Amino acid sequence: MNVGIFIPIGNNGWLLSENAPQYKPSFELNKQITLKAEHYGVDFALSMIKLRGFGGKTEFWDHNLESFTLMAGLAAVTSRIKLFATAASLVMPPAIVARMSSTIDSISNGRFGLNLVTGWQRPEYSQMGMWPGDQFFGTRYQYLSEYIQVLRDLWGKGSSDFKGDHFKMDDCRLSPQPQADMKVICAGQSDAGMEFSAKYADYNFCFGKGVNTPKAFAPAAEKLIEATAKTGRKVTTYVLMMVIAAETDEAARAKWEHYKAGADHEAIAWLGQQGAADTKSGADTNVRQMADPTSAVNINMGTLVGSYENVARMLDEVAEVPGTEGVLLTFDDFVQGVEAFGERIQPLMKSRAHVPSPVPSQVEPERLAA
Ligand SMILES: Cc1cc2nc3c(=O)[nH]c(=O)nc-3n(C[C@H](O)[C@H](O)[C@H](O)COP(=O)(O)O)c2cc1C
Repeated sequence: MNVGIFIPIGNNGWLLSENAPQYKPSFELNKQITLKAEHYGVDFALSMIKLRGFGGKTEFWDHNLESFTLMAGLAAVTSRIKLFATAASLVMPPAIVARMSSTIDSISNGRFGLNLVTGWQRPEYSQMGMWPGDQFFGTRYQYLSEYIQVLRDLWGKGSSDFKGDHFKMDDCRLSPQPQADMKVICAGQSDAGMEFSAKYADYNFCFGKGVNTPKAFAPAAEKLIEATAKTGRKVTTYVLMMVIAAETDEAARAKWEHYKAGADHEAIAWLGQQGAADTKSGADTNVRQMADPTSAVNINMGTLVGSYENVARMLDEVAEVPGTEGVLLTFDDFVQGVEAFGERIQPLMKSRAHVPSPVPSQVEPERLAA
């Protein structure tokens, strides 16, 4: 199974809690986390794009770096780990995104790929006067389908004459083209999102579900298998999970209860309102589920709480779900978390037996300590 880290490009990572570690995003923090991940043989790092936070006492995600420029910086200081940036397709023209991708492909020597999002939170775009109107909730994957055809044209043959409803290219050029076959992630959960992934993406990322129920996302993986049966393309599932681990189950559980007790209800209420604004994509989209009271403190992302041994066992269970190729991890404390993953969890995982342990020290110790 492949493992990636969803690096904390926004403040406080993925915990909306006054009791969680409070920190601002910075290049130095993300560099430290990504270098550690690379050291432990983690396959990839992904950063999201978030243009407006949720407020509340913790100012949740009110502080966010930009994804492409962050990954460009990380590309220059890493050597093996794959890097994915997220394109806010509504406000970044595909010809510019194609060229930025080519640039990071060059900086990283072929280690770069792209996460494409339509956007689900209106204020991110309306604050710039760039929200096309609420009908966009219903048409966003049609828009993204045209968008990716322009990208694929430019990456693949260096030019595009694509003519659609949203994009009209006129001998648009791209050179240099990326050296690597550019891999595309989509995290569509709605029917339209999954259909998009099955038709155009390489990987579909979905939310894990529940606490210590590592296989509960299986229906989403199954839905993708059904969608790819129609398109005949190979697209695999990656699942997003938060790891809260410690020496013992009790110690890990105590951390989790502490974070829940400090939940930032104001920020969570904002999330609920934004999720509810989309009345066009189908009633069960994961955006709405993020604010479900069960585990809104970490946007219901699916959580593994326990001793290092138990977390390793549960991650191996993730790998058993049909159609699943990887897991995308977040942590309550990313620096400690990645280290504990590399030192204590990964060596116990059967699904990571191919990763050498201890890891060969190809990264100089002073870079790791930075
Ligand atoms: C791993 C992962 C990463 C995501 N990254 C972003 C992001 O950077 N920006 C964003 O606006 N939405 C992001 N999303 C939301 C998805 O793009 C998508 O809108 C959401 O999962 C709901 O699916 P739907 O669009 O099919 O309704 C992400 C979701 C997941 C699971």
